[in-house]
Amino acid sequence: MLSEVLLVSAPGKVILHGEHAVVHGKVALAVALNLRTFLRLQPHSNGKVDLSLPNIGIKWAWDVARLQLLDTSFLEQGDVTTPTPELVEKLKEVAGLPDDCAVTESLAVLAFLYLYLSICRKQRALPSLDIVVWSELPHGAGLGSSAAYSVCLAAALLTVCEEIPNPLKDGDCVNRWTKEDLELINKWAFQGERVIHGNPSGVDNAVSTWGGALRYQQGKISSLKRPPALQILLTNTKVPRNTRTLVAGVRNRLLKFPEIVAPLLTSIDAISLECERVLGEMGEAPAPEQYLVLEELIDMNQHHLNALGVGHASLDQLCQVTRARGLHSKLTGAGGGGCGLTLLKPGLEQPEVEATKQALTSCGFDCWETSIGAPGVSIHSATSLDSRVQQALDGL
Ligand code: PMV
Repeated sequence: MLSEVLLVSAPGKVILHGEHAVVHGKVALAVALNLRTFLRLQPHSNGKVDLSLPNIGIKWAWDVARLQLLDTSFLEQGDVTTPTPELVEKLKEVAGLPDDCAVTESLAVLAFLYLYLSICRKQRALPSLDIVVWSELPHGAGLGSSAAYSVCLAAALLTVCEEIPNPLKDGDCVNRWTKEDLELINKWAFQGERVIHGNPSGVDNAVSTWGGALRYQQGKISSLKRPPALQILLTNTKVPRNTRTLVAGVRNRLLKFPEIVAPLLTSIDAISLECERVLGEMGEAPAPEQYLVLEELIDMNQHHLNALGVGHASLDQLCQVTRARGLHSKLTGAGGGGCGLTLLKPGLEQPEVEATKQALTSCGFDCWETSIGAPGVSIHSATSLDSRVQQALDGL
């Protein structure tokens, strides 16, 4: 087992195009969002496993000796075990969660225990570890925060147990794992996601692992080659929405008006494909005309999503505020509130970006300037000079 401190980060995700249409078999494009979750793992020798999640105020500690005595035969079904409902029930007993434990807290703890016990059980003795996970992502906003959490845990635990090598070489500030190692990280992270979500599509953990941009359709996920890193404003309207209800609403509209709604879904599919084509051509030196196409696609999709019934007054307001400044926005994810994204063209002056952020903030929204097409799960030097990692560490 490794004895050094590991510092890992993984990105969140946004859907660029194809939300809702994907439920009906169409293509969606999901991109890595450079708002990241960070994890610091310190092996220690105090016989404890400590888990701290400062964003949600969690601090848990277990005695390794007690965990060691547990009958974990329920995990022994092959290399990457699947968390069945019975297994999750067993984990609840192991975790000793109080009855009044909040849902987010208990799911985060269960996913951790599941990954820790499953990945580390091949060690002669379970390791004593101190793990802190913190995030720039708001949780419950459809930005893949739980997937980024599972990806960080899988990457750090597999590395500390030497199931995959630490790719960080002397003098590196940051590095990434090989394709084979990323595949293993993604497999385990998907199981963590299953503990948290039951039956997820797997796209969130795939984006968080691989980074960049992914296309997904009917369970098939593939990476786009060399997508450009695009600057965006990501806005959280903070209007709560329920994905299940919104998805059901679109289905009802499709049943009620098939001749009207089916062509909308086909058109959204064509928007995703056109966007994929343009992103593929943008490479490292995007042309202004390509940005104009991306903006038109954003506008058309936003209108379609409104026609599907998943718009919201807060999202209209977001589009109007940015439109007044010559910028183009669409909702991202389920709609009905939640988040929207605004494309920032290169050459846009910083004061203009700041003024737009200010205008959105004064609507009561949270707003981040960030990029999409960001790198997937990465390992950082613990003495990293990266100011963002340093700042986060200082804040702990
Ligand atoms: O819940 P969110 O914001 O991650 O968005 C879900 C995307 C939908 O296409 C609406 C639903 C789905 O399962 O793909």
